[in-house]
Amino acid sequence: MKTVFVLFGSTGDLARRKILPSIFEICKSGKDDIKIIAVGRRDFDNNDFYEYLWNLGKEFFIDQNIDNINNFIKKIDYQKVVLDKQEDYIKLSEKINDLKGKNGQTIIHLSVSPEHYHLFLDNAKAMNLDKKDKVIFEKPFGNDLNSSIELNNKINLVFDEEQVYRIDHYLGKEAVQNIIFFRFANLIFEPIWNNKYIDNIQIFANESIGVGDRGDYYENYGAIKDMLQNHLLQMLTLVSIEKPKSFDANSISDEKIKILKSIKLGKNFEKDIILGQYKGYLQEKGVGTNSKTETYVSIKLEINNSRFTGIPIYLTTGKCLKEKSTKIIINFKNISDSLFESFGNIKNNKIELEIQTDENINIYFNGKIDENRKEFKSKFEKGTNTKEAYEKLIKDCIDGNKILFTRFDVLQESWIVLNDLLTYKNNSNHINQYDKGSDGPIYN
Ligand code: BG6
Repeated sequence: MKTVFVLFGSTGDLARRKILPSIFEICKSGKDDIKIIAVGRRDFDNNDFYEYLWNLGKEFFIDQNIDNINNFIKKIDYQKVVLDKQEDYIKLSEKINDLKGKNGQTIIHLSVSPEHYHLFLDNAKAMNLDKKDKVIFEKPFGNDLNSSIELNNKINLVFDEEQVYRIDHYLGKEAVQNIIFFRFANLIFEPIWNNKYIDNIQIFANESIGVGDRGDYYENYGAIKDMLQNHLLQMLTLVSIEKPKSFDANSISDEKIKILKSIKLGKNFEKDIILGQYKGYLQEKGVGTNSKTETYVSIKLEINNSRFTGIPIYLTTGKCLKEKSTKIIINFKNISDSLFESFGNIKNNKIELEIQTDENINIYFNGKIDENRKEFKSKFEKGTNTKEAYEKLIKDCIDGNKILFTRFDVLQESWIVLNDLLTYKNNSNHINQYDKGSDGPIYN
């Protein structure tokens, strides 16, 4: 089936870094008949946009083959749309209809700042989309619980749920998808995946880059809404859900909901939160001079169910840290057994799920070589050559496969989990500064 892929925000940061390179790879594979409409506010004609892409090409397309880039560029038309101008949507829909023919589908990808979704929804009806057309909404989905409900209600007035794809690109990462396999396709891990054996769980998504030219966006969201509410909580649910009834979107979402409903921030949770801001953030473009927006957050929480009660779980994310690294670490309890005393301390077992930049699973265990105790590491190596998550997710959307997209009630529960944290943040005037390239704030 022919697909017309309509990218709103086509000259923005996300389009440049992730979406355009991904759609380029999908087009290159030649499996789908795709036309692209790049939508933006700029007064571009097609040639301006092609030039813009050529300039990106050197930096962003992994494949530098001139023929491939040329073929890709030929598939694109640029269309100016001012988001609150209905006549622009009508013009856009004329272009869509020209391109998609009788049986094609349209996919609208909204890569614009989430506060613009309302403008799009106010005008989307003018486009006369078909029921088989689809819309991809980026995260954050809303700004808090109430605004996410309001947004969802508005979406439901314009689109059927079947048409709506709420994206969290971490779910498209191969190593994140592998979590369910690792846990449930093996016999040896599930029996110890509980509070009898696990001491603590740490999930972190550290980034070495700063906010770049997204200061305006970031000021409205900060690390809690940009990363914690979505990517980190999604990884946490995959590490902690019970085995889903089947491998489909609804069964997995049902299990995620149960976990999110049982997450508790501790009674004195203020003690368990660290908010930080990298030095130099205030000088970034679009950032207010007195901004208290957090570029780093670390919280401790607990899952209150029979499997996990008592296990502290630490979620951390930050920008401008020492290195880019996303990991889930399961630390097991100490076996203080006098049997091995003469060999030195026995180390705790540990399972490390490396999500990026490498995609490995490391298992640490004790053993003996000659007269010495040694720690061994057994490794599942996935390599680094997997598809960009967006490529997987956009292809799934083209094929109508929703398994890796987020159901609204899951998002709603994620906002509920963070409610107290957001209130605390809004009322708190204190933010810990940290050096760029460090491990985050030093906190006593
Ligand atoms: C996005 C955030 O969702 O994820 C960005 O908005 C962040 O701020 C990005 O940089 C990180 O994604 P990845 O795949 O590079 O870890």
